[in-house]
Formats: sequence, C-alpha cells, structure tokens
Amino acid sequence: MQAVREYLVEEPGPDVWTQVFTGQQRLAGARASEAGASRDLYLEIGCGRGDFLLQLASQHPENDYIGIEGQASVVLRAMEKAAAAGDGAALGEDAGEEDATSGEEATAAEDAGAGGLPNLRFVCAFVNSMEDLFAPGSLSGIYLNFSDPWPKSRHAKRRLTYRGRLRDYARTLKPGGFIAVKTDNDALFDFTLEEIEACGWTPEEMSRDLHESDLPARLVTTEYEKKFRAAGKNINYVKVVL
Ligand SMILES: C[S@@+](CC[C@H](N)C(=O)[O-])C[C@H]1O[C@@H](n2cnc3c(N)ncnc32)[C@H](O)[C@@H]1O
Repeated sequence: MQAVREYLVEEPGPDVWTQVFTGQQRLAGARASEAGASRDLYLEIGCGRGDFLLQLASQHPENDYIGIEGQASVVLRAMEKAAAAGDGAALGEDAGEEDATSGEEATAAEDAGAGGLPNLRFVCAFVNSMEDLFAPGSLSGIYLNFSDPWPKSRHAKRRLTYRGRLRDYARTLKPGGFIAVKTDNDALFDFTLEEIEACGWTPEEMSRDLHESDLPARLVTTEYEKKFRAAGKNINYVKVVL
C-alpha cells in the first residue's frame, strides 16, 4: 500500500499547490495561471471520508483535486482509502458496499487501477478564510457536499453557503469557475438559494430532486448522498458559474 501520508498536505498555503501536484516550484510573483497550471484544480470543503473525490480523481487524471476535512479521524480514513485505491485494492468496508441506487457509478478502486492517485491530496483543517489556502483565481471549481446545516438562525454565518463565505470562495475561482452544492437538507438549500441571489448570481443548474433530473452531477455520488438516497430522500443541487 502506498504511504497514507503521501496524500496529506501538512502545510497548505496559496503557493504550495503547483509544487504539491507537479513537484515544480512556483516562480516568485508568478500568477497561479502562469505557474505551470494548465491543469485544473478542484476543491471539496468538508470532504468527509473522500468517496466523491476518489471517484473524480480516478476518472479525471487530467485534473487535480484537494479535499479539506476538519476531523482528523475522518480525513485519515479518506487518505487510507486513497492509498488503497492507488494500489488498485478494494476500499475496505465502504468500497464493498453495493450502490443499490444506480448501476452507473463505479467504485474509486475500479477506476483508479494500480497507477495511484497522484492528482489527489487532503488537508486536515476547518476552512475559515480561503485566502490562507488558495491564491486568487487558482481554482476551477469548489464542491460543498452535504455540509453541516447549522439549523439555528443565530448560527447562519457558520453555514458553508453563507454569503460572506460564498464571496470568499469566489475570489479563489478562475473566470468560468463554479461552486456546486448538494444537500439533503431542504432548509439549508432554501437558505443557499437566497445567499446565491444575495451575491447577485444566477444558478446555472438547479434541481430539488437531482436523481430524477438528467444533470451530470447525479453520476458521481458522495457517501452521505448514497445514504440519503437509500432512505428515499430527495437530493437538492445547485451550481453557479462565475
Ligand atoms: C455531513 S459530512 C459530509 C461529508 C461528505 N462531503 C459527503 O457528502 O459524504 C460534512 C463534513 O464536513 C466537515 N466540515 C464541516 N465544516 C467544515 C469546514 N469549515 N472545513 C472543513 N471541513 C468541514 C465535517 O467535519 C464533516 O465531516
């Protein structure tokens, strides 16, 4: 098994990503777009045990993926699964699960083969300010999958789709970059649509029942998404392109 630690970025920061993924130093003063960055960089905030990114990273070796997760034990499991997938091994108890909801989705282990996942890395942190982590215009897309709902109204600013956070994410996106949100929580989804409107943005794609739609986002599912679908819950989805 490849070393689990290879998948951890211990000192993340705006200037480290080219080095992390290509081994090349970023030139001092170079913009992200000039730093050998023909590859697209995607981020999931609150990646949990990494199922979603393992699938994307294995299906798209031409892109790079970062998962950030605040709980150490959870991100450790994501890294173990990445290492196992890189070996072409089964992904433990989670990988063995049949996806009863769709025959279209493959496991990351099947996708990854034996070549490893050099295009996937994890950070153990609770994201607060994006400027500590990513240069302006450096990301092609940000995924927020089944974020904690923080149901009390006095905690609204803690929700990952609060307008101040959305604007913070937007500064790190390239022109044409996107923010994509999936949630089972209908109240959080209503809130998210309001916050998107407050930012002056118009959704490019939106569904209150993603898996009854023909949107491509239905094809790569997260761990929580599988659980909620199995329980018969509708999955809400919105994507804004900036
Ligand atoms: C409900 S789980 C969803 C996990 C995964 N995205 C999925 O769909 O299966 C939400 C995760 O987000 C993490 N989280 C919440 N706020 C975060 C933040 N600000 N930065 C990083 N992780 C965060 C939590 O620790 C938790 O593991």
